[in-house]
Amino acid sequence: MKKILCIYYSQSGQLTEIVKNFAKPFEKSDEYSVTYANIEPVSDFRFPWKGYDFFDAFPESVNKIPCEIKPLNIQDEDYDLIVFAYSVWYMSPAIPSNSFLLSEQAKKIFKDKPVITLLGVRNMWVVAQEYVKEKILELGGHLVGNIVLRDRAENITGIITISYFVFTGKKDRFLGFFPKPGISEKDIAGANIFGEIVKNHFKNNSFDKLQEELIKAKAVKVYPYLCTVERMAFKRVFKKWANFMLNKGGAGDTARRTRVKMFAYYFPFAILLIAPVEYIFFIIFAPFRIKTIKKEIKYYSGIKLKSNL
Ligand SMILES: Cc1cc2nc3c(=O)[nH]c(=O)nc-3n(C[C@H](O)[C@H](O)[C@H](O)COP(=O)(O)O)c2cc1C
Repeated sequence: MKKILCIYYSQSGQLTEIVKNFAKPFEKSDEYSVTYANIEPVSDFRFPWKGYDFFDAFPESVNKIPCEIKPLNIQDEDYDLIVFAYSVWYMSPAIPSNSFLLSEQAKKIFKDKPVITLLGVRNMWVVAQEYVKEKILELGGHLVGNIVLRDRAENITGIITISYFVFTGKKDRFLGFFPKPGISEKDIAGANIFGEIVKNHFKNNSFDKLQEELIKAKAVKVYPYLCTVERMAFKRVFKKWANFMLNKGGAGDTARRTRVKMFAYYFPFAILLIAPVEYIFFIIFAPFRIKTIKKEIKYYSGIKLKSNL
């Protein structure tokens, strides 16, 4: 019997549902056993979020500072396939997910094992995934597949609806006319299709062509404009703000509080003003960057790490 371990952290339950649907094809077969391991922070992040807490999680997310987590509640640490399912916070893996990647237990679990990453995000994930790719490699695992379920709303609409979702916990239509927030019920229910694809490759003990097939099945879609904005914003804006906020002590420090509040005012401004300006520049220069854009789509849809190409 082949053993699969699904590791995940989900606040609203959205990612939990994705994981469970993904694993359905394995659950239906006697040839596989599926273990679910929920990452539990010692002191969990409150959901729905309070305004201040939401922005206060920014510097630790961006600078990959772990929180304390409980060891995974599993009997065994030897599996044939690891599914690492995570959400993205501020272009980084959610703090509890990153805390697991940095744990001693992860070293034992990932060593020499094939790993599939399964993301449930809004739409900005490529910077986080580059980091996760590196970590998996450092842990001795081999990334064999990547699946990204995302919010299909247009960027600004998605920001408005996800804000409504994370601050209220409700997945209905904001003001009655916005699209429902987060990943659609149809996409969540359809995650089993990707599980089926993985199962076919797992059955034949070869993951060589897995990602190619996942891409054909639209398991991952890369938007070059969003990639450009993400990389630029992470390096030039997020890192600077995170360092600025962390310069003054840990959580609760009054100087930090002031800086977090300043960021809370700056963030919506940046999203609503800077992002559209970036978009215009992207469109103007796109005809001269077609080759680079094509390369980027191919690279970010794949599972290899740049340094290993
Ligand atoms: C603090 C915070 C920051 C987030 N930042 C991003 C982001 O940078 N990119 C993105 O695509 N989604 C982002 N999201 C959305 C999450 O990735 C995720 O889709 C949503 O929180 C639901 O996840 P859940 O299953 O844990 O409830 C963010 C959510 C939170 C709470």
